[in-house]
Parts: sequence; structure tokens; C-alpha cells
Amino acid sequence: QTPKGSCLEAVKIAIDAGYRHIDGAFVYFNEHEVGQAIREKIAEGKIKREDIFYCGKLWNTCHPPELVRPTLEKTLKILQLDYVDLYIIELPMAFKPGDALYPKDENGKFIYHETDLCATWEALEACKDAGLAKSIGVSNFNRRQLEMIMNKPGLKYKPVSNQVECHPYFTQPKLLEFCRQHDIVIVGYSPLGTSRDESWVNVSSPPLLKDPVLNAIGKKYNKTAAQIALRFNVQRGVVVIPKSFNPQRIRENFQIFDFSLTEEEMKEIEALNKNVRYVELLM
Ligand code: A2P
Repeated sequence: QTPKGSCLEAVKIAIDAGYRHIDGAFVYFNEHEVGQAIREKIAEGKIKREDIFYCGKLWNTCHPPELVRPTLEKTLKILQLDYVDLYIIELPMAFKPGDALYPKDENGKFIYHETDLCATWEALEACKDAGLAKSIGVSNFNRRQLEMIMNKPGLKYKPVSNQVECHPYFTQPKLLEFCRQHDIVIVGYSPLGTSRDESWVNVSSPPLLKDPVLNAIGKKYNKTAAQIALRFNVQRGVVVIPKSFNPQRIRENFQIFDFSLTEEEMKEIEALNKNVRYVELLM
């Protein structure tokens, strides 16, 4: 999903800027560049492997339990790493297994596949036991789906995290509270309101970074709206994974640890919630 080489450069710049958590996936088609960037930075002596926290994702066509470990092994081969720090189920619905990553029928409808998510989860547990993934989690799961895993008879490991859309226009108050109660970390994707690419983003929701409240608070701290949006989530315990291919903005998005928002400002930002997703995942 990135022009050749741009991901390699961005990851190297990010590591130099201080980032250690890298969020990837097989379906981003750039894991080879991420792996290369990490390995180059290790070779330079800038970091050690254990400093990096790499998250990989199990795609929808690989949910049948017998496919899980070979799929993770393929990711590790592409990365040229021995383990991922976190491996997560990317989406709670399965597609028909096969070479097509987005299998569709003659009417253009997705071809789904019936797999028991609990069986998929057991296969992830086995990957953790085998040392291929240090931790395991999920993504785009709602409360019901999380409960299904957590109430599974014989559960060995519960999900450590749930990666979902989360930012000031979609603050996820109920899911956040539920996850807090169960010690599940929320990792917020699209924390800056996405790139507004119409092919996958609902652009009828207004651009987050133009928000007057975020900009006014930013002015007070000499920070940008982007930095305020990121700080807001970090300050309430939500992990953020901002995306940028621009060196200046990559560095800017890391400069959020030298100030804090007041309780009142946090409430003001929480009140911006529109409960509307940018990433609707209509599949
Ligand atoms: P760019 O790569 O040109 O920096 P999200 O993390 O919510 O998916 O948002 C990603 C989008 O936000 C990208 O289009 C990225 O563009 C842009 N972006 C990243 N950081 C900033 C920033 N600090 N200010 C403005 N836009 C940003």
C-alpha cells in the first residue's frame, strides 16, 4: 500500500526519532521494508531487536486454525525476524481461504468463510507457546466478540489488546471502559483522522485536524492539532499509531511527551465525540 522504498525510509526515520512500536500487516504489502529498516537499524547499533515492538496481523483469508501458524511463519520470513511482539486477528470475520485476499463472487460480493473465532484464537495461543509471538490480541472486535474469546472454555491467554479506530471524533467510551475493566489495552488506529482516501474512508465526517477546539488548545501549548489529538489518547491510556511518510510530521507526532492537558481540556476534547467512524469496514 506504499510506494516502493517509502516505508523503508519512514520506518528508519521513525526509529531515529524515537519510535519503537511499529504497526504492520501482511496486507500492507510492505513488511519486507519494515523488516529491512529494523535490521538496518540493529546493524547500525542504534537499537537492539528487543527495543522494537512489532505488531503483525492475521488476515481474513487465514482464519482456519491450521493456517494460522504457517501464515505467521510467512510474515516472519518476509520480515526476516524470529518473532513478532504482538500478533493480532485483524478483523473478526473470515473470508474464503485462497490466493485472493479479497475473494468475491460473480456479483462482486465478498465470499465469507465459516470459521470458529475461538478455534482461530486457540491457534494464536499455540503461536505464543511456540515463541513466534510474544503476545496475542485482536483488532476491530466489539464487546460481544471479546467476551466470546474471554469466556471460551479452557482459555489459555486472553487478548492483551484490541486495535480499533479511536480519536477525538470517535472516542469509544463504552469499549474503552469495558477493556479497562478487563485489562485489555486499546490501540487506537487512525488517531489523526486518516488520510481521507475516499476509496476506504467515509469523508462525510469532517477532517479531524481542522477542528477548532483541537487547534485552540494546540495554540496554548505551541502544539499542532495533530499533537493534541495524540496527546489526548495517550493521556487516557490509549496507545496511538499515527501514520506519516513525511520526516517532519513523523518527528512532530513524537513530540507529545513534554506537556500535558488539563482535566478540563481532556473533557472538552472528549465532548467532540461524534460517534461516527472514518473507517466503516463495510465488509
Ligand atoms: P503524511 O504521510 O503526508 O504526513 P492516521 O494516522 O489517522 O491514519 O492519519 C494519517 C494521515 O495524516 C496521513 O495522510 C498523513 O499524511 C497525515 N499526517 C500525519 N501526521 C500529521 C501531522 N502531524 N499533521 C498533519 N497531518 C498529518
